[in-house]
Amino acid sequence: MTRDSRAGAPAPHNNPPREPTDMRLGRIVRLLMEHATVVVSGTKIAEEISSSRSSSGRSSSGQSGSGRSEVWRLIQQLRGLGVDVAGHPATGYQLRAVPDLLLPEIVAPLVSGTIFETDLHHFYKIGSTNTAAMAAAAEGAAEGSVFLAEEQTAGRGRGSNVWQSPRSTGIYCSVVLRPVLAPADVLVLSLAVGLAVKDAIAQVDASVNVDLKWPNDVLIDDKKVCGILTEMNAEATRVRYIVVGIGINVNQESFPAELNATSLRMATGHEWSRVELAGALLKSLDREYRQLVRDAGVRESILRRFAESSSWVRGKNVRVDENGSAIEGTTQGLDERGFLRVRTESAVRTVLSGTVRES
Ligand code: BTN
Repeated sequence: MTRDSRAGAPAPHNNPPREPTDMRLGRIVRLLMEHATVVVSGTKIAEEISSSRSSSGRSSSGQSGSGRSEVWRLIQQLRGLGVDVAGHPATGYQLRAVPDLLLPEIVAPLVSGTIFETDLHHFYKIGSTNTAAMAAAAEGAAEGSVFLAEEQTAGRGRGSNVWQSPRSTGIYCSVVLRPVLAPADVLVLSLAVGLAVKDAIAQVDASVNVDLKWPNDVLIDDKKVCGILTEMNAEATRVRYIVVGIGINVNQESFPAELNATSLRMATGHEWSRVELAGALLKSLDREYRQLVRDAGVRESILRRFAESSSWVRGKNVRVDENGSAIEGTTQGLDERGFLRVRTESAVRTVLSGTVRES
């Protein structure tokens, strides 16, 4: 967990968000999805784009040849992003398959009724969704704002780690939360995020055996499949905002051995729909989060469920590296704040943060 305690300060990372997904690409995909069984003419698509332009005060060229060639250019852009569109300017266009892109048009219907339904932001390429979300939160972004990217060029992990974020193979998602919580309670929230990820994976494929490693790693077969980066801006007694960043390895086909990582595809042998998983993730996250902020008593249940879902919380021989020092011992459960207890040769120690490894 990272804490940005400077009053109102944006995240200390120098990569402002790039332009969000071109709204026109999203509109074209939506139009093609709405007319999935028919060929949609270039003129109709040009009209759709131009009506969005004129409603935002820009000029319209929907009926013109230049409108249709603009459509062709955008269709080529979509194809470059892996969207399977048949056709050309003379015949019109048709989707061959619903694209597995995390576009607001596609994700929003899956998360209706949650706090994540209205402020979905999508980027084809961005430095880091966490950096973008922290900057947006500092500017007042609403609770429930979601930042999704197809690719991150500076994905950040915990500590100074880099999060490999190749295009359209993983889920790179950050959400802005504004809970009425003391900073000390944020660990419980971030444990609840791990539970939400585990639940989302199970919703899509219940046969996957997911393990949670304290505090924030999601593992399959002892390899990392998901990491969670929780950053906050807080005063001494009050959280201003939190950004929870979730990176899930979904359809990667391999990883360098030294990363000790896996993907859902590698673990199960089949390709996963990122859209379906992202929808399940945001719904599970919504449920965990709402319960926690509505009823402080739920903290106990989160700690119990985390311990039940983790082979690391009790009886594991571990080495913990924390702020340059290391301890070795056997895990003894979580305390009431969610910290990890480890019995060493001399005492039971409480681990506040750090990297836990099997010893
Ligand atoms: C970890 O080190 O385990 C945490 C990895 C968190 C990666 C995610 S991907 C989406 C969000 N944006 C980032 O730059 N990092 C998080």
